[in-house]
Amino acid sequence: MNSSNNNLIIGKVCICLNEVDSTNSYARECLAKSKPSEGTVIVARYQTGGRGQFGKSWESEPGRNITFSIVLYPVFLRARQAHSLNQAVCLGLKDFVESLNIEVQIKWPNDIYHYDKKLAGILIENGLMGEKLDYSIIGIGMNVNQTKFSPELPNPVSLKMIAGKEFELEKLINDVCGFVETRYRQLKKGQWKEIKKDFEKALYGLGQRRMFEMNDELLEGIISGLDDEGQLILTINGNPRAFSGGIAYR
Ligand code: BTN
Repeated sequence: MNSSNNNLIIGKVCICLNEVDSTNSYARECLAKSKPSEGTVIVARYQTGGRGQFGKSWESEPGRNITFSIVLYPVFLRARQAHSLNQAVCLGLKDFVESLNIEVQIKWPNDIYHYDKKLAGILIENGLMGEKLDYSIIGIGMNVNQTKFSPELPNPVSLKMIAGKEFELEKLINDVCGFVETRYRQLKKGQWKEIKKDFEKALYGLGQRRMFEMNDELLEGIISGLDDEGQLILTINGNPRAFSGGIAYR
C-alpha cells in the first residue's frame, strides 16, 4: 500500500500545540464544543498526561516523538464493527513503518512491534449514536528520536534506535496520516474482510505457542488468527477459543 492520495482529508486541518495534557482529551473537548472537520489532527510537542490503553500513561520526551490524535466520523460503522477501524489504523501505521524499510508486526489488539519491542501504540476512543459510531478519536504515539526510556517500560524501541538516524517529526506525521487515510478509505469502501486478512498476516506471534494471562490465570495457546468480531483466536489443547479482551501476553 502506498500513501499517494489526491483526496487527503486527514491532516488538512492541523492544530499544533506546544504542551497539552493529552491530544485525545483535547480532541474530546473540541468535539464537546463544536464539530471539527473530519480528519482534523491535533499534534502536541509534549503531553503532560499522555494516556495509553487500560488506564496506563504514555510517556514521551518533549519534541522527540510523535504524539497526535485524528478526529474521524466513521458513521458508516456499527459500534460492533469498531474493531475494523482499529485494524485499519494499525495497518496504516504498519504500512507507514514498512515504507521506511523497517519490519513491524501488530501485537493484538493495537501495538506496533519491531521484533519483541514496542515502537508505537494506539488509543482509540469512540462516541456512539445509537448503534452506530458517531465519532472516533484516533490517538497515535510513536517513539521516533528518543533513545533512553524509563526502566519501568518493559520493551520500548524507537525509529532512531532501529535505523540509526534522526527523523523529521513533521514529515513523519504527514506520512502517517496519508497511510492511515488510505486504510480508512479502504474500510469506508466496505473492504473489512481484506483489512482483517492483512491484519492477520501482520499478527505478532501468528502460529506460535505463547503464554497469556487472564484473570490471574495462565493460559498457553497457539495464536491462530482473528474472528469476524476482531477477537483473538487461541488454540488451546487443540480447541480454538476467541478472546475479546482482558487477556495479556506474558
Ligand atoms: C498504548 O499503547 O497504550 C496507546 C498509546 C497511545 C498514546 C497516544 S499519544 C497521542 C494520544 N494522546 C494520548 O493521550 N494518547 C494517545
